[in-house]
Amino acid sequence: MSFLISWYDFDDRITGNNVNPQSNYTMDAKAISLSETDVKPVVDLLNDYLANYHIHYQKLRGCHWNIKGQNFFTLHIKFEELYTNAQETIDEIAERVLTLGKPPHSRFADYINESEIKEINTIGMKDLDMVDAVLDDFSKLISLERGLLEATEEAGDDGTNDMVNRFMQFKEKNTWMLRSFAGKK
Ligand SMILES: [Fe+2]
Repeated sequence: MSFLISWYDFDDRITGNNVNPQSNYTMDAKAISLSETDVKPVVDLLNDYLANYHIHYQKLRGCHWNIKGQNFFTLHIKFEELYTNAQETIDEIAERVLTLGKPPHSRFADYINESEIKEINTIGMKDLDMVDAVLDDFSKLISLERGLLEATEEAGDDGTNDMVNRFMQFKEKNTWMLRSFAGKK
């Protein structure tokens, strides 16, 4: 028997639980009265959603930086409002994944691989093309959100349902505003 004991062995001896580094990395959904099996699809969808949001966020920053023309002052400010919202949204999504007991994706490699929303080059892009690109992202994100609303309902995960619903309403309203700005029907 070794004189050296790891933290996990140490923890094991105190609690009597069979603790290992992997299972002890995050909490279990059971701690908030949810079934880990039931919320697994929700966690997977949230990680996809997180990947899409990161690519969307960086697109908004590109639009904010590279906007040119008569609408500069209006859109430069609007894109900043949208990326600030996206940044806060990203943090809430990632922390919800942790609350459900799993680590969120945190590498750009994963975001680029998993995101349905694709990067674009905003240098030299026309102002209304930027608005269209953002509207297209909104449409994809809202579609992911509708999938999440169904999955959360099935899992009995009202917390995630409420959070995603809130994010969706923000983009629904901004879809109306950006379409009105662009003179669309
Ligand atoms: Fe700025």
